[in-house]
Amino acid sequence: MPSDLPPTLGDAASDHSYTPELHRATGTAPGKLILCGEHAVVYGQPAIALPLSGIRASAHITPMPSGGVRFDAPDLARAWAMDDAPDDPLCQLVGEVLHAFQIAAPPAITITITSDLPIASGMGSGASVATAIVRALARYTGRTLAPAQISQLVFENERRLHGTPSGVDNTVIAYEQAVWFVRTEDGAQIEPLDIPAPLLLLVADTGVRSSTKLPVGEVRRRWQHDPAPYNALFSQVGDLALQARAALCAGDTRTLGPLLDQNHALLQQIGVSSPELDRLVLAAREAGALGAKLSGAGWGGVMLALAHPARAAQISAALRGAGAASVLRTAVGGPPEIRL
Ligand code: MEV
Repeated sequence: MPSDLPPTLGDAASDHSYTPELHRATGTAPGKLILCGEHAVVYGQPAIALPLSGIRASAHITPMPSGGVRFDAPDLARAWAMDDAPDDPLCQLVGEVLHAFQIAAPPAITITITSDLPIASGMGSGASVATAIVRALARYTGRTLAPAQISQLVFENERRLHGTPSGVDNTVIAYEQAVWFVRTEDGAQIEPLDIPAPLLLLVADTGVRSSTKLPVGEVRRRWQHDPAPYNALFSQVGDLALQARAALCAGDTRTLGPLLDQNHALLQQIGVSSPELDRLVLAAREAGALGAKLSGAGWGGVMLALAHPARAAQISAALRGAGAASVLRTAVGGPPEIRL
């Protein structure tokens, strides 16, 4: 078990004597959007992240007569066995979860993974799939895990995938709650955010797949080579995140919009935008978006546009006209009865 797993995970595991049962179990998890603060959050600045509850990854566990843990990812036309792929990150995740649950012999199961989230798109596909698997395994083995425990297990998986994650993706996905997130020396400061007015967001996919590891690694190389300008940019992003939080929690979308525009300009300077992202951001603004920016690690993936409902159709059409591979309309926050 990794040394920094919460001690209660061990407690949860030791409460149970596990007997494999012939039942099925399912876990699901949402996608996510970073509203403000990506990349700078890796360097200790705050970020605001939102769950995308309508777009989910699922893991279905089916017991098998024999044969250890197998994975089936029909969307990717891929199937593999834990015994044959010990270095596969999902095999390692399952190994760690079973270890944390103090289950010595892997059960004979197939874990079928399906997801609405495009891979390497900035919407948290990796953390979402990992969270769905942890939840399914917890259900299958009769454990109850708190969001913090799930988040910690998924964070270890993020580390294996991306090297130096901030922890924001696993947090927003495991808690499924809008969060204010600051990485600290010994963990993270996580505050749930109450968003009083619904935020209408259009999320357009460039269609360009870009793994988080690459831009995060490149930003680190540039920062190590010449820290001062990057520290200044990160700190400006942090200031914007603070202002964005105030606007978001006051339901003030007219103030929030230009802050998103400024965040995009800083991300351009950090070097993680791309011509496709810039084209979509510009098209959204010209069609009347209140603000627009890339979201996630960049170099591809998605951008988001904050829209007034009366302008949403126009902005969506402009995004498609500017080459978006898909445009998703989602609402975040507002009174509970109209939340998506
Ligand atoms: C990726 O969703 C967000 C980044 O800031 C990386 C991280 O925080 O781990 C680019």
